[in-house]
Order: sequence, then C-alpha cells, then structure tokens
Amino acid sequence: MIKNITPRSRLIILRNLIYHNIVFKVILLILNPILLINKIKNYKKDKYKVSKINWGLRTDQLGKHGVISSDTPPEDFDYVTKLQKKILFSNLKRFVSKKEKKILDYGCGSGRFTEALAKISYKANVLGVDPEKKLIDLAKPKKNVKYIVLKNLNQIKSKFDIIFISNVLGGIEIKNLYKLNKFLISKLKKNGILFLSEHISDKKNIESEVLKGWAFRDDDFYLNLFKKINLRKVDEYSYNGYRTSIYVGKTKEKVLKNLKKPLKYRK
Ligand SMILES: C[S@@+](CC[C@H](N)C(=O)[O-])C[C@H]1O[C@@H](n2cnc3c(N)ncnc32)[C@H](O)[C@@H]1O
Repeated sequence: MIKNITPRSRLIILRNLIYHNIVFKVILLILNPILLINKIKNYKKDKYKVSKINWGLRTDQLGKHGVISSDTPPEDFDYVTKLQKKILFSNLKRFVSKKEKKILDYGCGSGRFTEALAKISYKANVLGVDPEKKLIDLAKPKKNVKYIVLKNLNQIKSKFDIIFISNVLGGIEIKNLYKLNKFLISKLKKNGILFLSEHISDKKNIESEVLKGWAFRDDDFYLNLFKKINLRKVDEYSYNGYRTSIYVGKTKEKVLKNLKKPLKYRK
C-alpha cells in the first residue's frame, strides 16, 4: 500500500482543489483575455523552450522552504520533512551496514537530510553538495558534515559508500542525466549504495520531453538510468497529490534480493 503524507492545513487542501481543477484554469483564461491571447501567441515558441527552476530566486522568495513544493505552507515544512525523513531513512536503513564512512548528499539544498545521514552509520562523514550557494548558506556544517557549492563535478574528488539523492534529478534535463548517471556510478565505492527518491508519474513520453521546471518521469526511466547498478524500486509515498518513488541500487546484486518484501510503516 502506498504511504500517504496528508497535508495538515485546510487552506492547502482547498487551494489544491482549486489549482488542480481544469475548469478553474479555463475560467481564469476566459476572465483574462490578455493572458489567453499571449498564451495562444506564444504557444509554439514556449512549447519547445526548456525552463528550469531558478533556485536562487526561489530561495530569496521562500527561504529554506523552497526545496519542497511551493503549495506547502511554511508552518507545515517541518511536519512534511519529518515524515519524509521517516519514510526515506526507514528504507535506507535496510541497506546500510553501519560501517559506511563516506556519504554524499547530491543536491542537498539547505541540508534537510544531510545531518541525519551522518547518523546512519557509526563513523560517517557526509558531504552535501549543491549548485545553489543561497541554499548552501542556509545549511549548518558540523564536524562530520561539510557542504560545498558545486560549480563543477570535478570538485567531487573521492568515492562514496552511499550517494543519497532526494528530488534532484527531476529538475535536470534528460541529456544531462545521461552523463550524470555515469559520473555518479563512477563515484560509488565497490558495494556502494545509490539511494534515490524522485517525484514520478505514469507518463511515457520521455524522449520528446522538454523540461518545464520539474519533470515527473515514470519509474522505468529512473530504473533504466541506473540499470548498471541494478536500481530497484523499494517504496513509494504520496504527498499533496505528488507521488514519490524510492529506489536503491548497489554495485552488488546480492543485497537487493529481498526487496520485494513490503516495508511496514507507521506514522
Ligand atoms: C527539490 S530541491 C531538493 C533539495 C534536497 N535534496 C531536499 O530534499 O531537501 C532540488 C535541489 O537540486 C539542486 N540542483 C539543481 N540542479 C542540480 C544539479 N545539476 N546537480 C546537483 N544539484 C542540483 C537545487 O539547487 C536544489 O537544491
């Protein structure tokens, strides 16, 4: 059964009902003819134009809260993060030996999960990397938790026992992912774990994808992207209408054998 993180605020539920309602969207366009005309005029041009999230601007506007969906009210940020952490880490714990020494939080944002990663193993050192300086500035370094602003992948010098990625790849164009996957695999030590969680949908039109802020790809896309390390889906949860898959890949097949057992989860 798919786990569900229920939004606490009534406002958010009401807002979602309205926002996700197609009739509402059409009414908005009819009420605003200029918007409608511009939409029609720019339709062809915009259709093939890649748009990426400006994380700097988003951080200016929303602070640390910007790393989760913008329809989450700030007062729900800690509540949602706590539940996500519970789901992610209860899965991750199934695969760690507690002897892991080096962990990479790739696209760590403001470090929501970075510190907790240091506690997953007895002697872990964690490196959080993110291209957005404004988010890294919000993260809190500790003795065994370091952060760097990632300008170039070459800055990541060592290999890791665990590479943790939480909702990062959805914001990256496919052509770049086909290079990034090789890089990340090359940064895994022997028997290293890739732990990935990404928003998903059942959409299949991957090849013609034009990135519009965030891509909700299907499970097969991510499974194929990390086929070399036998990526498997281990769990799924939903929050506020967004589905998120959790995957684990390991350079050695053996450990992944009993993945099919469903994981019990209590709030
Ligand atoms: C949705 S946020 C998730 C942040 C964090 N992992 C979390 O769960 O709180 C996506 C993050 O990916 C980062 N990002 C964007 N492009 C990236 C890239 N090419 N490599 C690594 N991180 C990237 C963004 O700066 C942003 O912090």
